[in-house]
Amino acid sequence: MLLNIMDRFEYKNGTLHCEDVSVADIAAEVGTPVYIYSADTLRHHYRTLSKAFADLDTTICYSVKGLGNINVLKLLAAEGCGFDIVSGGELARVQAAGGDTSRVVFAGVAKTDQEIQQALQAGIGMFNVESEEELENLSRIAAELEIKTHAALRVNPDVFDPKTHTYTVTGKKETKFGVDIDRAFEVYKCFGQDPYVTLDGLDLHIGSPIYSPKPYEDAIGKALGLIGEIRSAGMEINVIDIGGGYAADYETGKSPAATEYAQPIVALLKDQGLRVIIEPGRFISCNSGILLTRVLYGKKGGEKRFAIVDGAMTDLIRPALYQAEHFIYPAQLGEDQPSPERKITFEPTGGVKVDIVGGVCESSDVLGYGRVLPPLKRGDLLAVFSAGAYGFVMSSQYNARPRAAEVLVEGASWRVIRRRETYEDLMQAEMCD
Ligand code: LLP
Repeated sequence: MLLNIMDRFEYKNGTLHCEDVSVADIAAEVGTPVYIYSADTLRHHYRTLSKAFADLDTTICYSVKGLGNINVLKLLAAEGCGFDIVSGGELARVQAAGGDTSRVVFAGVAKTDQEIQQALQAGIGMFNVESEEELENLSRIAAELEIKTHAALRVNPDVFDPKTHTYTVTGKKETKFGVDIDRAFEVYKCFGQDPYVTLDGLDLHIGSPIYSPKPYEDAIGKALGLIGEIRSAGMEINVIDIGGGYAADYETGKSPAATEYAQPIVALLKDQGLRVIIEPGRFISCNSGILLTRVLYGKKGGEKRFAIVDGAMTDLIRPALYQAEHFIYPAQLGEDQPSPERKITFEPTGGVKVDIVGGVCESSDVLGYGRVLPPLKRGDLLAVFSAGAYGFVMSSQYNARPRAAEVLVEGASWRVIRRRETYEDLMQAEMCD
């Protein structure tokens, strides 16, 4: 049983290991760039959260958008995990992984008729409905198909964490998500009697990552006020979905522990007669994965030095899109080099400052700016840490770059869970004649 660890990526005798496997051995067989995930770390973070929220009637619905590989979903499903989805494609992934569809919640502002039908027929647990018009449409389709379902209204509580990037704030007024909290009561009144759609849930997702429990407390406080009002009007609310956003440790100690989030939330929700859903994505998968890339060339540009690598923004777009900072370090250390501290500002003695850049024709194609690393040479492997959430899933084929392989490590064994794409994969969907 693991203690409260960040992940199972550790240097052993100067070589980075994922659990008991040297990542260099994986690179030698599979090539680079490659995503490497630790099964033990995935399970560890799932179990840590379940334990932290055990005093409530909690269902964890892992947010598939963070890391959707069906082999990872299978592993989580085996733990008893449910899933938060945002598209029919994600539902298909959950089904392919053998996930329990009755533990699936479906958010998203733009559900199509076809996706609603697909989800009704799959018997998902709950629709997280984001507007009055969507609720009308869900009601119409459910009646047509004669399938009963449950829904929660996604309410926008108008709270946010100032540390969250503006692109991923969702719980503030005037974002496209949910229904303004001051309009929500009317929606419950209007749709509370639907014969096919039981509107007995309330959903919140305030953004991600959220670096403190405070915004959750604020949002839940407002939600409980609304739930009281709805119940006093004779309607039932049985479920509260408090969304995701629990931060991962991009740097050691950067983020609250599961218990720090859970304590105030449990105190607020205990004895409220509510089933609680949480939708963590990055908390479970972020630290469970690295992107491993190889140095192709070193180069100077004015006063700057560059390490040009075979991974790029097409593999990990977070630094380019959100100025996100991932810790990056060589996977193999020289004899005299100690294991690094997981801090962006960590500087080894004799280090050299470099920008780590990919080969895409965009100046924003940078994986890390101004990092002080041991001197690098062609062929060295670099690990980009905390890349298990919003890494592979956001990758693209821009510049006709086949997407990377994904590997899952379990103890001393490992397997490819997504093969590297080929040039054929790039063009297959265009062979239309
Ligand atoms: N639930 C809903 C309704 C969401 O929209 C999201 C994330 C989550 C749960 C999970 O959030 P998490 O626990 O993973 O923080 N691409 C961005 C993140 C976008 C998040 C979108 N929604 C990034 O790389 O940081």
